[in-house]
Order: sequence, then C-alpha cells, then structure tokens
Amino acid sequence: MCGIVGYIGKRDAYPIVLNGLKRLEYRGYDSAGIALFDGEDLKVCKTKGKVADLQEKMENEISITGNIGIGHTRWATHGVPNDINSHPHYSNDGNLVIIHNGIIENYDPLKKELTKRGYTFKSDTDTEVLVNLIEDVQKQQDVKLGKAVQIALNQTIGAYAIAVFDKRKPDEIIVARLGSPLAIGIGEDEFFIASDASPFLEFTKNAIYLEDGEMAIVRTHKEIKVRKIHDDSLVDPYVQELQMNLEEIEKGGYDHFMLKEIYEQPQAIKDTFRGRMLPDQGIIKMAGIDEHMNKFLNAKRIIIVACGTSWHAGLVAEYIIEELARVPVEVEYASEFRYRNPIIDKDDILIAISQSGETADTMAAIKLAKENGAFVFGVCNVVGSSISREAHAGAYTHAGPEIGVASTKAFTTQITVLTLIALQLAKKKGAISRSKFHEYLVELDSIPNKVKKALESNDLIEQIAHVYKDAKNCLYLGRGFNFPVALEGALKLKEISYIHAEGYPAAEMKHGPIALIDEQMPVVVIATRKGHYEKVVSNIQEIKSREGKIIGIVTEGDVDVRDLADHVIEVPDTLECLTPLLTTIPLQLLSYHIAIALDRNVDQPRNLAKSVTVE
Ligand code: F6R
Repeated sequence: MCGIVGYIGKRDAYPIVLNGLKRLEYRGYDSAGIALFDGEDLKVCKTKGKVADLQEKMENEISITGNIGIGHTRWATHGVPNDINSHPHYSNDGNLVIIHNGIIENYDPLKKELTKRGYTFKSDTDTEVLVNLIEDVQKQQDVKLGKAVQIALNQTIGAYAIAVFDKRKPDEIIVARLGSPLAIGIGEDEFFIASDASPFLEFTKNAIYLEDGEMAIVRTHKEIKVRKIHDDSLVDPYVQELQMNLEEIEKGGYDHFMLKEIYEQPQAIKDTFRGRMLPDQGIIKMAGIDEHMNKFLNAKRIIIVACGTSWHAGLVAEYIIEELARVPVEVEYASEFRYRNPIIDKDDILIAISQSGETADTMAAIKLAKENGAFVFGVCNVVGSSISREAHAGAYTHAGPEIGVASTKAFTTQITVLTLIALQLAKKKGAISRSKFHEYLVELDSIPNKVKKALESNDLIEQIAHVYKDAKNCLYLGRGFNFPVALEGALKLKEISYIHAEGYPAAEMKHGPIALIDEQMPVVVIATRKGHYEKVVSNIQEIKSREGKIIGIVTEGDVDVRDLADHVIEVPDTLECLTPLLTTIPLQLLSYHIAIALDRNVDQPRNLAKSVTVE
C-alpha cells in the first residue's frame, strides 16, 4: 500500500517521478503528491485523488523543473485522504521533505514529545511526525541527514519504506526500509527509487532491493552506501539484473489491466509449469520441493496461510493435496492464524501464498511458524519479494506483473503451482499410480488451450452482465473443488462492481441463504459434469422453484442444466481436480463486464490497494 518514487541525477525529475507514480498507482490511489527542488526552492504539490489530478494541479500551479524529486501515491492509514494528509510532508523548518509507505506505530508518544518541544503539525499523519523527528535529531545532535534518519528510525516502531531529502543538500536522498519494499535503480550518475522496479525499467536494468532494516545514502557522482539501521554496519549490496520488460507492465491494447491479465492466463499458466513439468518424460522437477522432499514426506500436516484471493487458492489446494497426496491440510486466514495462538509443530509445513509477497499478515504468520520450528514454503508471484525471501524455500508462480487490483492470473497460477506440488508429493509418497500421474501431467499441459476456449465466451458473458448489472445481491454456489471458486467469484464481483455477493457450498444453501432467493436474485452455480453433478442439479432445481435467476457454469455439451438455467456458460471438460482453472474464467469475465456496465474503475476499485503491507 502506497507507492513511492524518487529520482536524482541529470534528467528532469518531474516526468520520471510522475510516470513512476502512474505505474505504482495500483498500490494506493486516494491521494498523491510530488516534491521537486528546482535549484532554488523546494516545490511541493499534493492533492486528494488520482495521479492524473496531481498532474493537472502541478502543471497549473508550480514550476516543474529540477533534477531531484520524490513522489507518493497514497492508501490512507493515519488521517483521511485529503490534500493536507497527502505526502510528501515537510519538517517544521521547511528544509526536509519525506515520503513514506508504512505505519509508524509509536507516532503518538513521539508526537507528544515533539509537541512539548515546540513542533507543530499540519496533518494527522504518522509521517509528518517522522520527518520532524529527523529534523529534531539533526538539530539536537548536529549530525548529517543520513545519521539523523538512522537515529530517528531507531526510535520508531512500525514499518516503513522512506525517501527523504534536505533542500540545503540537494545532491542526496536517504532511503530506508523495514517491512515495506524499496528498490533502487542504478543508472549512470543517476539513481531511481521506487516501491518496485516498474518506474525505472526503461532507464536501467540494474537494481538493488534493500533488505529489511537497511538504509542507503544515494548521492549523485558517488557509489551507493548501504548500512544496517540498527548498528550502522556497512552492507555489500547485491545488484540484480531485472528480467521484467516494459510491455509486461503496459495495457497492450486492452482497455484495462484486469482484462489483459484475464486474457494472459493461458500464457501465464504455461509459464508456471514451463521447465517444471515434462509430460513426455512423465516427471515434475521443482527445485524448491525436490530439495526439501524429506521435510514434505515427513510432514504430519500442511498449514496454508494467505489472505483474500490467495486464501481461496489455498482452499483449492487443500482439496487437491488431500485428494492426490493424502496429507492433511488446514487453510487459515493469515490474519487469524497470527493472533490465535495456533498449535504449530516442528513437523508441520506452512505454505504461505501471496501474489505480492508483501502482505503484512501473511508475513507475520510466516514469522510465527518459523519461531515454532515449522518449515516454511512460499508461493509468491513477485520475484525477490519479502515473503519469498523470508520463506525457507518456495516456488514462484511466474505469472508476470499483476497490476489490476483484482487478482486474476495470480489465482490460476497459484493453483497451478500448488497442483504441481500436490502431484510431486503424491508421486514420492506412492499415493498415485504412474498412469494416473501421467494422465494429470498431460491434462495439465492442455489447460492453457482450454482456458483459451473458455475465454471465447466473453461476448456471451458481456450480454449476461448487462441483464444483471442492477442486481443488489448475488449468490455464487459450487461444490468440492469448485466451492472455493464460488467464494472467489463472489469476491471478484464485490470488489470491482460493489454489488453484494456471497459464495457458498451449494448444499449449504438450504441451511440459510435459500431464504434470500426470489425472482430478483441472480445465482451463479458451478455445475461441471465431474463433481457431484446430480447433487448440484438438485440444488439448481431448488433455486428454480423459488424463481431465482440461474447462471450455470457447465461442461461443454451439457443438457440438464441448460434445461433449468436462465443462462449457461460452457467450459471445456477436464479432470475434476483441474476444473477450478477453467470455471474461474467466466466468473472473472462476469464481474469485469458487470463492473464496466456500472462504469466502475475496475483496475483501481475504491478503498482497495494491491499490496496490503499494513495489518
Ligand atoms: C482480491 C485481491 C486480494 C488479495 C489479498 C492478498 O482480488 O487481490 O484479496 O488476494 O490482498 O494479496 P497477496 O496475494 O498479494 O498476499
């Protein structure tokens, strides 16, 4: 949550910082701001609203020159989204300016102390407290900015990625991170700072990702110095070569990132199993699993922790791992797990699933599991993310950047990785026959083409979306492997269209939700041929006799549901375990088209942010 960008070098900082903010806007978008030093003055412009609003304001109100600049796009934590609470924030003497992603938890006592010493505050933010604390240290201890930042940070509790500079010394930016990501792009006599590498991809492929507890002084004409914040020791930073391309983070002709990412799923799933699954040879090779196979084989149980859509992928994985590998699996919301004093054994394996690899609750759950001796395996999409580094081992999903705030390709690629894990484990445990194992590999290999086929229903789904766009509520039902898909379908609709939706196991309907059904209520039922088909058809009959409107997600060629439902959307046939990879697709498209019909901002739905780095 919150995106930060900075530039120092020979170019104009404004376009770099502004475009960087546009690329990071998925991280938070309730307000934005930029600070530039134009050689004489520090210019700060900020506003409630989107980066486009900021651009308009900046170009009308201030000079936009300068070779040093920092910018911020905000997801509010302390203080409502308004112009004053937007970043950057000044210190009282007007010399220091800061941007911050994270939360300073002890801001209140620090603020009281600073207030006693005569400091005043314009905003309600914890960030303004931090910049004044830095100014105070600078004054009291007569130290340079880097040292003042370090001393101040050692007095804080919380999480941060910050960038701060002093207008009296406009050849350096101080950056630091604890719990929130921060990348430094290295150009020739110029540096880029950002929450992820996307803002500087066209300028450099060399980047340093600061580790938790590290800070850096970034100076023109000088090498970067990275230090540990708590003991000042120097760190030799690892300079990574970035693999990401610019095209991957652009819309590529689609109206929205979400639609692009839905359509990328055939390729994303292929990329997930490429090099790992060799159907011809009947093998799976996954270093992250193979190197730790003994741990997996000896595990008494697997605990999966995640949030949101990733949690739904975890639920699908529970069904798949138990079905194929016969290992008990428990799936928990990371936010509950971390605070409920769970029983964790050293023979447990904790699998943490996270697209961003930055989700604060998931990270805390990992730390708790590690403290209790469990082996932690991460399933992340963002390479080099905090969770991928914190886990003992892991597997990337290789879905490519997911920028639409509603998760789509992350979900299907997470399921793909977890299916590979389940299959490998089943094979090594002898829980699956060779021929069955081979059948799974061949079928998984065919999934990308079947996803393509499922995407061909787009026009039909758009028409259906227009029929139900004004619904106030919507029910999603599924059984077995498709129960979590029902939950995910409901979440997608809620988050981007703001229509209330609930997902249920189809058989649970008669234990309560059936009371909601009348002629106004659309009910999306996943009724693929494999998986309790007859029972789901009975559930559909129950809805029909209460005049609910039925949208059936069915296997190609289905006749029974077609007779009962108001609409059917077909997906290709596949093995039961793999149906979620196909049934998810129409649900993603349905929520997308309903949201578009309602004129919602699908890529940046209200109140949400892409990576939730606060608890
Ligand atoms: C929903 C969505 C969120 C995320 C959740 C976890 O579309 O995107 O529910 O799935 O915030 O995020 P990650 O996977 O990054 O840990």
